[in-house]
Amino acid sequence: MTTERPLLLRALAGESVPRPPVWFMRQAGRYLPEYRAIRGDHDFLTMCYDPALAAEVTLQPLRRYPLDAGIVFSDILLPLQAMGADLEFIPGRGPVINNPVRTADDARALRDFDPERDLAATMETIRLCTAAADVPILGFAGAPFTMACYLIEGSGSRNWIEVKRLMYSDPKTFGSLLNRIADAVGDHLQAQVNAGAAAVQLFDTWAGALSPADFRRWALPASKRALDRVTGAPRIFFTKDSASFLPWLSEIGADVIGLDWRMDMAQARAVLGDTPVQGNLDPSVLHAPHDEIHRQVHAIIEAAGPRGHVFNLGHGITPEVPPEGVAAAIDAVRSWSWS
Ligand code: CP3
Repeated sequence: MTTERPLLLRALAGESVPRPPVWFMRQAGRYLPEYRAIRGDHDFLTMCYDPALAAEVTLQPLRRYPLDAGIVFSDILLPLQAMGADLEFIPGRGPVINNPVRTADDARALRDFDPERDLAATMETIRLCTAAADVPILGFAGAPFTMACYLIEGSGSRNWIEVKRLMYSDPKTFGSLLNRIADAVGDHLQAQVNAGAAAVQLFDTWAGALSPADFRRWALPASKRALDRVTGAPRIFFTKDSASFLPWLSEIGADVIGLDWRMDMAQARAVLGDTPVQGNLDPSVLHAPHDEIHRQVHAIIEAAGPRGHVFNLGHGITPEVPPEGVAAAIDAVRSWSWS
């Protein structure tokens, strides 16, 4: 780590910076040939629980690109596994939980999660990465509602019918499940800060499946409860398909709001006031000609302004993205100067 305060931390604190810092959600992953080479010999969960392998793939994008932060290689679903979910990653299908929570009894049977005990490998990965990298390393967790989605539905879903069925038919069980997950993920974030994470991000990927009223009733207070347990590092809240929730996002109490690409940056700024923001290039733009990538990156930076903006995508890098498109976007960010 250089002696100057990292650009990422300055922007996350809402300061004016000469150019925004840049990192990408899913910057480690299958779009990188060096990731696929390791993945070819190990399954995904094995990699998550092996600190040497997890640190290696965390560092891969930092060696290839001049990024301003790394994000620890892990997955939001690991705490659920510790709580008793029978989790598998099935190629082509994604995560599957073979024993979904559907009743009050199922919820009661969940075990407590202790991040230091159950995810010691992640804490060790963070220590290895902070020692090896010269940029800050971010920790992360899934937001309670998004975690509950996988736990109840048992897989990804378009409509999350089982989730909503439990939410509406047994709100007491649903609410206490969210609280339990909130405490677990809050402690998980704090453990990552204690291990050296310079900032943490809470991913509420599926909150956009809710109506604004249900978002305010369920997802918002649960994420607030999780983030309230975390001190000592900036906390980023990311959600997707949730432009209509903008007026309420500040109530979560995050230090920084991550925006998906369906929100207009200038409009988001107008609603969120001084709250620092992160985002929000459409990940598909990474497939575009490089002059178009530059144009779109610069339009976002210009709309965000010099203060408290971290450049990122509006969601994760997908496996099909060409590594040169990622390089072009980083190059565009680094060529910007506010002075
Ligand atoms: O961003 C990073 O580089 C850090 C690592 C990271 C992963 N998952 C690695 C991963 C992070 C931050 C996540 C978060 C995550 N995981 C979220 C929230 C963010 C988002 O994308 O909305 C969610 C919903 C999950 C659950 C999850 N994990 C899914 C849906 C999948 C399957 C995706 C697919 O395309 O198959 C995963 C697997 C996963 N997590 C991979 C990686 C690199 C791919 C695993 C592989 O190599 O096969």
